[in-house]
Amino acid sequence: MRKRARSRAGSGVPATRDRQRKPEAIFLLGFMGAGKSSVGPSLALQLGWAFEDLDERIERREQRRIHEIFRDSGESVFRAAERAALEELLSEVRAGARRVVALGGGAFVQNENARLIRDAGLATVFLDASVDELWRRCREQAAREGVERPLLSDLSEFRVLYENRRPHYARARFCHATDGKTVAEIVKELAEKIGMPSGKSSSIRSKATVATQGTPKGRERGGKN
Ligand code: S3P
Repeated sequence: MRKRARSRAGSGVPATRDRQRKPEAIFLLGFMGAGKSSVGPSLALQLGWAFEDLDERIERREQRRIHEIFRDSGESVFRAAERAALEELLSEVRAGARRVVALGGGAFVQNENARLIRDAGLATVFLDASVDELWRRCREQAAREGVERPLLSDLSEFRVLYENRRPHYARARFCHATDGKTVAEIVKELAEKIGMPSGKSSSIRSKATVATQGTPKGRERGGKN
């Protein structure tokens, strides 16, 4: 008797029968404070997919917090760890795991990372906001949740880094402005833009803006420190 194909419990990876289908994942990218970690879980809920923050995978693999990797080993070691974590995640997606993924602000700026995601045929969404709003969100998050980012310096350096990176983000398949919007509004708009199954978006009623909604990082782990 043939066994029914079943998902491996909790992994989100379907059993062999489903492995041939097209890989499915949505990568959220953008600068620090773009809202990747607050929009991501709601979007994932809407799709019935798992949410993943790539920085959390890096921390698990390295057994160190992000700021410790930067502080003790430098940015180049962090970028290598980021690449390795991305490759591992992509192999899971190719095996059938469905994911909404929040990338760290520098991940898609690395050409090789962008190429790996594009070659896998996966959707990328650039969450954009004005640099002043991004700065304000990061400062608020730092004060409220203790999230301190290694590359969050002063406003003028923040602005230069943003301007340098923006053309990379703009290569995403979808670009979406988030200034002044609630998480629920952004998710609803993304559902329409990306063409996701509609009808469930009204169930997300949160009035939280990207700036006020706590992120999983902040809530569970005291931020990136
Ligand atoms: C980084 C952003 C961070 C984190 C790391 C590097 C960057 O993620 O990956 O500190 O280069 O902009 P967030 O964008 O989630 O803050």
